[in-house]
Amino acid sequence: MRGPIGATSSATLLATLLAVPQLTSAFYLPGVAPTSYKKDASVPLYVNSVKPVAASQDGVLHSVMSYDYYHERFRFCQPAEPKYVSESLGSILFGDRIMTSSFELEMGRNQTCKSLCESEYDQESAHFVNKRIMQGYAINWLVDGLPAGQKIIDEITSTTFYSPGFQLGQVDADSQPSFNNHYDIVVEYHEVGGDPNQLRVVGVIVQPDSKAYSGAIDSTSCLPDTLPPVRLNEEGKTKVHFTYSVYWTRSPTAWATRWDKYLHVFDPKIHWFSLINSAVVVVVLTITVTSVLFRALKKDITRYNRLDQINLDDLSGTSALEDGVQEDSGWKLVHGDVFRTPSHPLLLSIFLGNGAQLFVMTGFTICFALLGFLSPSNRGSLGTIMILLYTVLGFVGGYVSARVYKSLNGEKWKLNIGLTPMLVPGIVFTTFFFLNLFLWANESAGAVPLSTMLVIIAIWFIISIPLSFAGSWLGFRAPAFEPPVRTNQIPRQIPPTTTYLKPVPSMLLVGILPFGAIFVELYFIMSSIWFSKIYYMFGFLFLCYGLMIITCAAVTVLMVYFLLCAENYNWQWRSFLAAGMSAGYIFANALIYLVSKLSLGGLTGTVLYIGYSALLSFLFFILTGSIGFFSSWWFVQKIYSSIKID
Ligand SMILES: *[C@@H]1O[C@H](CO)[C@@H](O)[C@H](O)[C@H]1NC(C)=O
Repeated sequence: MRGPIGATSSATLLATLLAVPQLTSAFYLPGVAPTSYKKDASVPLYVNSVKPVAASQDGVLHSVMSYDYYHERFRFCQPAEPKYVSESLGSILFGDRIMTSSFELEMGRNQTCKSLCESEYDQESAHFVNKRIMQGYAINWLVDGLPAGQKIIDEITSTTFYSPGFQLGQVDADSQPSFNNHYDIVVEYHEVGGDPNQLRVVGVIVQPDSKAYSGAIDSTSCLPDTLPPVRLNEEGKTKVHFTYSVYWTRSPTAWATRWDKYLHVFDPKIHWFSLINSAVVVVVLTITVTSVLFRALKKDITRYNRLDQINLDDLSGTSALEDGVQEDSGWKLVHGDVFRTPSHPLLLSIFLGNGAQLFVMTGFTICFALLGFLSPSNRGSLGTIMILLYTVLGFVGGYVSARVYKSLNGEKWKLNIGLTPMLVPGIVFTTFFFLNLFLWANESAGAVPLSTMLVIIAIWFIISIPLSFAGSWLGFRAPAFEPPVRTNQIPRQIPPTTTYLKPVPSMLLVGILPFGAIFVELYFIMSSIWFSKIYYMFGFLFLCYGLMIITCAAVTVLMVYFLLCAENYNWQWRSFLAAGMSAGYIFANALIYLVSKLSLGGLTGTVLYIGYSALLSFLFFILTGSIGFFSSWWFVQKIYSSIKID
């Protein structure tokens, strides 16, 4: 993906025009209000959970579990009573656990080699910490809402940017882990309008270091570079003295643009290049497919209607044998069956209702993000807004499910109303709960606390379910979609079909195109989920989502056309499953990612990874399946209402 692709200067221009100004400037619309500090005022430093990032020695992720900063095995210095800092629901769900710390930062005052505390590491703690160092864990701090980062130089564009988090320790050349016990904290501040009483934090960089002190700590102990690194002894006890220095540097960066350094697009050229690449392929394919389809359809419809005319004329006497033979093929033949109720209409309508709900939610979320409401300074706003939207849109789910069920001549309407808000969210919640049990068992900070679980259940039962019921009630009262042709009493026999129209091959063929449309973006979303990188390229995501919808609709309609031409009228489930198959590809892609980019080495990590991937793929299955079904439904209604049936 990040191979050496020779991008032209026009691609660069495009990238700068499209990616940089719009996507980043959009972030500061609502934002959080800036905090101004006076000189020497205390600036709190908060600690967040310790998260795995790709290990520096091999670039592979070794774990997916995060830990509380004050997990007893880390033995980090803590204040007398560490307190949780209040967080949004989305922030908690995405694994943030922000707490107070005992670091003392005073605005504008440099301090060197301040002693924090001394901790003793027994064998178990030493083993635990050494293992986390080998796995490439990173410490996450927040100063005034900004993550403490490390300065990194992007070699391709030779720009510097800040990557959130810094190393817990490093693996030395002799593959011994050394533990970082000293932190050089550089805080950049900006003076608003030259007023020394209005100072704002605009950047935080931490350079961690490993220094085995021998003796008392004073303000110069940490300065010499000659101290040996701290090795935690796994066979005995190790005493470690924690120290830190704070340096304040004046910066011209304004508060409004302080996030720019963190939101680094790793080589936007390649990102654009691959996006345009897949977009072109997808668009060309879709246009070809639809134009061929339209031409074929137009021919069919004129032929059918002309035949009709001839047949009417024929009533007067002479018969046209030749025309009768001609009519004996094509999709017109199944007009008496095409609107026959499919098997399991209840399940289908529930999936479709939930699919519609997800569809609208995703659309709204991306729009909010494009408008800049989901700025990274609003920690967890993405998760929060998604949950809120999903809850409120229970109404849409209920309505669509009920109306589809009514149109499919379903009779168990009570079951439909009850199961629509229960089935899919229930599956998601149960899976989520079981995965969480694994995290609990491992004392991981990624485990969602019980109180948050209860809040989610409460939101679900108090808001989502009643809204869904209301939607169902309206949906059942609305008129059903009437089919343009009558359904025969006796079902027609379905002739055997060619190989590629059989269920599995057709699903595999149809599913790959929508997957192709979002493949590039998926890579970045995956690395933001698993490598805790900030994802903010919603412009790209918006384009990809649009492409995916178009492709999904176009290829499914094409498959339904071939299916009907082959006199197979079971298009309802077939269209749903075929379009939903793109989720199968996503899951397969996740498994490939597991093998190539992750090395979780342990049951828990693997189960968690596969569990979450399966969950996301399931939701995606329902989403794309619904897109496929609704476009096919529209198509079938359209073509059968344009021919005359005698
Ligand atoms: C604090 O340290 C930084 C970095 O060494 C330096 O640029 C700055 O002038 C110092 N500030 C004061 C008040 O000494």
